[in-house]
Amino acid sequence: MTLLEKIIETKDFLASKGIIQPEFGLILGSGLGELANEIENAISVDYADIPNWGRSTVVGHAGKLVYGELSGRKVLALQGRFHFYEGNPMEVVTFPVRVMKALGASGVIVTNAAGGIGYGPGTLMAISDHINLTGQNPLIGANLDDFGPRFPDMSDAYSKAYREKAHAVADKLGIELADGVYLGVTGPTYETPAEIRAFQTMGAQAVGMSTVPEVIVAAHSGLKVLGISAITNFAAGFQSELNHEEVVEVTERIKEDFKGLVKAVLAEL
Ligand code: HPA
Repeated sequence: MTLLEKIIETKDFLASKGIIQPEFGLILGSGLGELANEIENAISVDYADIPNWGRSTVVGHAGKLVYGELSGRKVLALQGRFHFYEGNPMEVVTFPVRVMKALGASGVIVTNAAGGIGYGPGTLMAISDHINLTGQNPLIGANLDDFGPRFPDMSDAYSKAYREKAHAVADKLGIELADGVYLGVTGPTYETPAEIRAFQTMGAQAVGMSTVPEVIVAAHSGLKVLGISAITNFAAGFQSELNHEEVVEVTERIKEDFKGLVKAVLAEL
């Protein structure tokens, strides 16, 4: 089956479950999936039941697709995403974004846990741009002309309009929202201190193991993106050691602000 045929098969399967015409996709990162529990009139489908869909294996990722209403908008939420470091091909990592587009979404909110370069644990950061250091590009291969051009422009991959709305909403709610560049790596190792010093010189404020592939595919097809990083730790070299437990713990601490912010922003997009 071609990629396009797979996208259509999956879209038709989801439509048969009542999942039609979402306005926004939500990709919920490590520990941030709880937001999907607040979706009203929810239809949820286990990843295992969806054709052509990946499997999520990380602690803190549930593995369900949830469709319904949030802040009065029709949303399709991924509770758990697919990472390249899990061994998923880029086509699988980015497949949900293709399906969101095929179902008619106009924008996606992409979230993640990230290490801070300058910013500390507990900071929420609107992503202004990214640096792709994964050594990969999900658009390599035949171009899907129905979705977008061979050589997509990435100048406004993180919609300035969305980001300005996010900042305005954060100000109104009294939530501090930082702003910065997300540098994407494959993981699964955390970075070395030397790598982080290099990334700092390159102009990154956050580093993480997701998001970049999904945003490239979103930009290709003209989906507008709001990216939000939950900074869970100082990146390597800025604190004594790194571990996944801390990432989960800090996400737990900031998830109320995170949920409040995303819900309020959704109402304004
Ligand atoms: N590096 C990469 N990914 C991460 C980090 C980090 O420090 N924290 C959470 N995700």
